[in-house]
Amino acid sequence: MKRFAPAKINLSLEILGKRPDGFHDLRSLFLPISLVDELTFERAAAFSFTCSDPSIPADDSNLVVRAARLFGNGTLPLVTLHLQKNIPHSAGLGGGSSDAATTLLTLNELTETPLSFAELEKMAAQLGSDVPFFLHRSPAWCEGRGELVRPIEIAQDFHILLFKPPFGVPTPWAYQNLAASRPLPGIPMESQSTSIGMLVNDLERPVFEKYLILALVKKFLFEQSETLGALMSGSGSTVFALTQEKIAAETLHAKLLVEFGENNWTAIVTPWKPDFLPRRLEGTK
Ligand code: C5P
Repeated sequence: MKRFAPAKINLSLEILGKRPDGFHDLRSLFLPISLVDELTFERAAAFSFTCSDPSIPADDSNLVVRAARLFGNGTLPLVTLHLQKNIPHSAGLGGGSSDAATTLLTLNELTETPLSFAELEKMAAQLGSDVPFFLHRSPAWCEGRGELVRPIEIAQDFHILLFKPPFGVPTPWAYQNLAASRPLPGIPMESQSTSIGMLVNDLERPVFEKYLILALVKKFLFEQSETLGALMSGSGSTVFALTQEKIAAETLHAKLLVEFGENNWTAIVTPWKPDFLPRRLEGTK
């Protein structure tokens, strides 16, 4: 059984304040995108987990294994699980969280006594702030520490150019450095009004202060005529630009390569359409 786990970008991320539990209250517009990891599940005599990316731990620290154990109430389910990683990690694209949510959803399909969606949501929130969003896989406003998900409909007819440098940004570091961070002169970080919505990310300030290349990429994308809006996703290190047409994203991509070289990960994607990707492969059980 093969399932897709879509990545996300944050079209907005406003941090409202620090909470007593150490997390931050936020208000964020999450958008699932057509960049996907692939998870293959087979029934087996014992649990095993393998991953196409050897730099990702395959032990109990992996969110997929933690999701499987949580679903089994402490016991690992009798499946082999292979993860084909396409979404870069530590990128602000939610790959690990999406893999965990997909694991919960698929194990729930395989079990004879499925849990309710509300029960899955509770488990998802235990695994990470972004995991409940990936159970819904719809554009959504997320609040609380991210786990309160309100799906909405937004226009889907645009393209997204993603840029990720060779390094990642650890999420806790970005949040910890928010309070002491300062704006960078000449770098646009105020909210942008676009046809797709208001774009703003409060975590740009601490992340751009340390990783100047990301600030320069955003400024460059922001200034190009093809761009509807440009922003960092989540806590980085991915920066994205929105364009209306695919050809505009391709032109922008070519300009980006000239300006910043080829030693970076890039992709052109669209908003993720809930129906077309996962269902197409449902016959491959
Ligand atoms: O929930 P998750 O494990 O993805 O969060 C990773 C880290 O990001 C947390 O340990 C915390 O440092 C930070 N975070 C936060 N406020 C949030 C979400 C994450 O401070 N709403």
